[in-house]
Amino acid sequence: MNHPTRFSSLFSGFDLKGSRVKNRIVLPPMVCFGYAGDNGSVSRKNLDHYRLRAESGAGIIITEATAVKKDGRTTHTQLGVWSDEHIAGLSEITTIVRGHGAVSLLQLHHAGLVTPAAVSPYAFGPSEQKDKPESRELTSDEIPEIISAFIHGARRAREAGFDGVELHGAHGYLINQFANTLWNRRTDEYGGSLDNRIRFAREIIYGIREQCGNKFILGYRLGANTPALADGIRIAKAIESYGADYIHVSHGGNLRNLPRPPKGFDFNWIVYSGVKVKENISIPVIVVNEIKTAERANHLVESGRADFVAIGRPQLADPFWVKHVQHDQLINPCLSCKPKCRWFETSELCPAQKKLREKAG
Ligand SMILES: Cc1cc2nc3c(=O)[nH]c(=O)nc-3n(C[C@H](O)[C@H](O)[C@H](O)COP(=O)(O)O)c2cc1C
Repeated sequence: MNHPTRFSSLFSGFDLKGSRVKNRIVLPPMVCFGYAGDNGSVSRKNLDHYRLRAESGAGIIITEATAVKKDGRTTHTQLGVWSDEHIAGLSEITTIVRGHGAVSLLQLHHAGLVTPAAVSPYAFGPSEQKDKPESRELTSDEIPEIISAFIHGARRAREAGFDGVELHGAHGYLINQFANTLWNRRTDEYGGSLDNRIRFAREIIYGIREQCGNKFILGYRLGANTPALADGIRIAKAIESYGADYIHVSHGGNLRNLPRPPKGFDFNWIVYSGVKVKENISIPVIVVNEIKTAERANHLVESGRADFVAIGRPQLADPFWVKHVQHDQLINPCLSCKPKCRWFETSELCPAQKKLREKAG
């Protein structure tokens, strides 16, 4: 038996922009802190990380946030796509992922205002932030240069063999900062109305389409509460109208205006936001966050509430999560570390990974 019939929805195929996706399970973007070189290069550890998860069987593998500019990283050890020199290393990832029959996407990222001082002495974004003296507002001359960095990042991803890219428009990073009135107080054409605030994303999307063509998959990770869910839904509709191929719904990096799922809704507000976004658009939607089990993931797909489910930390804890689900085998569970996942420091500290290492002797 290839998979228990109770998960038949989760293991059903899907056509995403002409690419056959073998199941509805996504490895969401997750930075592996300490893996990449200081120059953003792909390391052996990065390759092994993606090899295991691809071999396990996720239908879509989205790389960790990959920096489009060196001075826009969240950490020194983040993958980079700001130079043509990155293409060869990135192509090793796509060879592995394709070899295991998964669709490969690269997440394009710029940290903007939250670029740490250790990476860059200044951090820039749509507007200067009072609580961050080293931050400054991008001039209107500088914005096209950053848009161009995203477009060239996508071009390099395509040259490295990726099936597409995902724009990181969530978690309070640069694209999300432009979209959100909390961070964007500009009075020029990149600020004010929602249409102006998402001009930054729109110009990136149009530029990528022009550069990479229509067959290239272009996804958008949405900050659902930007600042409120109603705004997130409006952004999702706009992004769809610009020609994006899917929306991956996460949070907007702030704790205001959190949507409240109705009583009886058995998932958190981030998944709820994804379900609401799906009700309002026609392109495929990936939902994510604390879905945790195959039963719950299958339920979301079967009930038509989501097209894809991203399973993050469980696939960090158990690289073979998909295979184990598919063959009804024991899973090495994520232990839901508090206050946050230990992979944000290093995978070495993950207690679930420690167990695996001990088992392997
Ligand atoms: C260690 C770690 C790194 C992450 N890095 C990224 C990232 O690079 N880009 C991104 O959009 N989200 C990132 N996330 C968020 C995940 O993609 C995902 O949304 C989150 O873990 C919730 O899903 P889960 O409950 O299935 O783990 C990261 C999460 C973790 C735990």
